Amino acid sequence: APITVKKICCIGAGYVGGPTCAVIAVKCPNIQVTIVDLNQARIDAWNSDNLPIYEPGLDEVVKSARGKNLFFSTDVDKGILEADLIFVSVNTPTKKSGIGAGFAADLKFLQLATRRIAEVATSSKIVVEKSTVPCRTADAMRTILEANSKPGCHFDILSNPEFLAEGTAIADLFKPDRVLIGSLQTEQGKDACEALKNVYANWVPKEQILTVGLWSSELSKLAANAMLAQRISSVNALSAICEATGANIDEVAYAVGKDTRVGSKFLKASVGFGGSCFQKDILNLVYLSESLHLPEVAKYWRAVVEMNEHQKERFARKVVDTLFNTITGKKIAILGWAFKKDTGDTRESPSITIANHFLTEKARITVYDPQVTQDQIWLDLTNYGDIPADPIKEHLTICQSAEEACANAEAIVVCTEWDEFKQLDWKKIYAKCPRPAFVFDGRLMLNRKELTDIGFQVITIGTGD
Ligand code: NAD
Ligand code: UGA
Repeated sequence: APITVKKICCIGAGYVGGPTCAVIAVKCPNIQVTIVDLNQARIDAWNSDNLPIYEPGLDEVVKSARGKNLFFSTDVDKGILEADLIFVSVNTPTKKSGIGAGFAADLKFLQLATRRIAEVATSSKIVVEKSTVPCRTADAMRTILEANSKPGCHFDILSNPEFLAEGTAIADLFKPDRVLIGSLQTEQGKDACEALKNVYANWVPKEQILTVGLWSSELSKLAANAMLAQRISSVNALSAICEATGANIDEVAYAVGKDTRVGSKFLKASVGFGGSCFQKDILNLVYLSESLHLPEVAKYWRAVVEMNEHQKERFARKVVDTLFNTITGKKIAILGWAFKKDTGDTRESPSITIANHFLTEKARITVYDPQVTQDQIWLDLTNYGDIPADPIKEHLTICQSAEEACANAEAIVVCTEWDEFKQLDWKKIYAKCPRPAFVFDGRLMLNRKELTDIGFQVITIGTGD
């Protein structure tokens, strides 16, 4: 029979582990939730008034449960010892070297955490793979756990991928489209699955909790991200045709999305998708396909990432072309550094690629983002390519407001769709810009007519005029 989960430990206090387990704590007052991480600074931040990640609604959730049934700690071993169920929610980045470099997922953090569970646990546990992993990773986890466990300790492994999107994490967790749980189809596997299902059933309707086999669950996560990203690359590929023909990508996407088989969501053309997962997970799928000797399948998915690279490059080049083929020495304002609005996360943000392109052209750049810290912006730029820190600092200035960034700019380039960019005093900004004053709207978010009436030349992704 399934156990009743009373204590949960989550290994990894990141963008997923933190919000997900904080919501579990709030929705399940009878369960004690401890989130552990090796990173002391991150844990200190979770225990402070200044949480380590920005996410609308997160502060309230954490404040309402912290100290009651929600705890943050660096004592990983104690967390493991006490828990009946352990989420493994560590990072699984793309490998930088060795076999599969540039494509395969680096599973070292996951394996270290798994090994720690086996070494420390003195009683049976349900171990839940929360991180996004290649298909059949649960097999490796089971082997590690079984080979290192104490006598009498049994481990059941579940796959329970997370589908939250940053910026809307709390809303997504409160009302998920579905929760997916994969387990072995043995008696014991099904019992473990039921135990986790009962946790979610505290707030998620049972019919939305899908239970499948382990491998289907693992693959569904990669598949979901690949298909979401593919929609964006499709719409971005069409945006290039729109620009060349005079069609309007918003109108095209609207018309296409009205077909209920396609659906209207996630069809917004952009400077390209960013974020820590889309590219990583598709490359992971490409690697998986190649290792399964399916080169055509690999090629198909790789094209989604290639189209995204092309979109970023195309947009940056359009700025240069429009400014009469040179931006050397010209002042360009970049509005938005995060990979999407309502997050301070900059992982794989298109702004980084675009800024780097402008730096290579020796433009003078100003950057403003309402949530991203200065340190993060410098780190992103120095980690990106091979431009050394000194010339970057000489050519790029980080500003405290959009108005400050736009003053005297020959081009204003909107990379992130922050709501506040709609409400700027564009008249005032125009007054301080040299003529012609260009605005490049990489998110189709600004009121084109208003800006044109003021006097701006507006260039929008996916429109021909
Ligand atoms: P993250 O880097 O923000 O957090 C991971 C945390 O794990 C870090 O704080 C790190 O210090 C900690 N960690 C690593 N190894 C550890 C160990 N052995 N013991 C204790 N702590 C350890 O990553 P994230 O964005 O939360 O992503 C985690 C996983 O979830 C990834 O596999 C990712 O693909 C997946 N995912 C992410 C999102 C998202 O929106 N960010 C959404 C769905 C799924
Ligand atoms: C994405 C998925 O939406 C989540 O379901 C998944 O859990 C997560 O990846 C993950 O596995 O990490 P996230 O990357 O946080 O979530 O944010 P999205 O809203 O998906 O946006 C990703 C990127 O695509 C952003 O740069 C966004 O601006 C861009 N985008 C999104 C578009 O350009 N057009 C759209 O129509 C939608």
